[in-house]
Amino acid sequence: MKPLEIKNNIFWVGAIDWNLRNFHGYLTQRGSSYNAYLIVDDKITLVDTVKESFFDEMLTRIKEVIDPEKIDYIVSNHTEMDHSGSIAKMLKIAKKAQVISSPNGEKGLLKHFNQKWNSKVVTNGESLNIGSRNLSFFLTPMVHWPDSMVTYVEKDSLLLSNDAFGQHIASLERFDDELGLAIAKEEAAKYYANIVLPYANQVNKALTELSGLSLKLICPSHGLIWRENIELIIDCYKAWAANKTVNKAVIVYDTMWHSTEKIAQTINQAFVDLGINSRLMNLQFSHISDIMAEILDARYVCVGSPTLNNQILPTVGAFLTYLKGLAPKNRIGLAFGSYGWGGQSISQIEEILKESAFETLDKIKVNYVPHALELIEIKEKLIKNLKEVQK
Ligand code: FEO
Repeated sequence: MKPLEIKNNIFWVGAIDWNLRNFHGYLTQRGSSYNAYLIVDDKITLVDTVKESFFDEMLTRIKEVIDPEKIDYIVSNHTEMDHSGSIAKMLKIAKKAQVISSPNGEKGLLKHFNQKWNSKVVTNGESLNIGSRNLSFFLTPMVHWPDSMVTYVEKDSLLLSNDAFGQHIASLERFDDELGLAIAKEEAAKYYANIVLPYANQVNKALTELSGLSLKLICPSHGLIWRENIELIIDCYKAWAANKTVNKAVIVYDTMWHSTEKIAQTINQAFVDLGINSRLMNLQFSHISDIMAEILDARYVCVGSPTLNNQILPTVGAFLTYLKGLAPKNRIGLAFGSYGWGGQSISQIEEILKESAFETLDKIKVNYVPHALELIEIKEKLIKNLKEVQK
């Protein structure tokens, strides 16, 4: 449990959660880390803490650097308990420490801990001198909560970005170039798709606000520190916040007796025939958070369900609720499915896609089992429609 000095007198003192597999419904196959950073200057500052159950791990790392009683400031960039959960325990040791947060952060911490602390509220752009360094605070509301802010250390060109630019990865490697860009980028995209996607306007505002800063390290509160690929991850955030898509389809479905699956495969073949990249994702085997990672840059989202008791299958209903909340923009949707009688599910899917501001292609609805000729007709009609859209 050694700390890591990431810059002269700035240490990573966080915790690694090797076993985390579910982060409020987000499948975290690679675990996660809660990154806290200790800045040792005339005044000693801890930026963010860790989930409460990991307090001892953080404390052990801090003790390797300084006596934790000497901490002067605890910066809370974000109230969510994976970052602020250890503040109360920390204050029992660092008794003189002042808690620094945004105005909404102060309110949120009070609601979560129901304790009055020695606290200081900072406004956007405000700076705090800690000796040889100034810490500057920039409010980034809704990236991820209304209280979110980031802390910039000008002397070291270092941004403590909290949830922004984060990835759920548990690893001993602390830097993007150590674990490899492919994993870092994949997990950053999944993180954005499942956590940050609804807040594109706020991300754009934050990117504009931070665009003038010199950046040598971006230190998020989950996963790897960006060192070698700073420009790349900022460009990714710009593209994701602009809801830029590529010519790619994601076909999401569940099936009872394989009829809806046959339609899904036919839709897939239509995209393939047109040279459009396509992903078939059966909800019995693919997790909704992995599906959202694929949807992040997909122009087409096709959703299929048979009708069960006059409704969408529950798995597809859950996916649509998740999709609607994450609200990707500039997408083209397609509802499809089979039915025995009733057949309400297909129109219900289409309705939800429209409510989510998707453009929609003609829905595909098949009674009982689609036969070979029907599937050929479905494919030909879809190819025709797609050619129109692609013009
Ligand atoms: Fe990692 Fe919004 O907390």
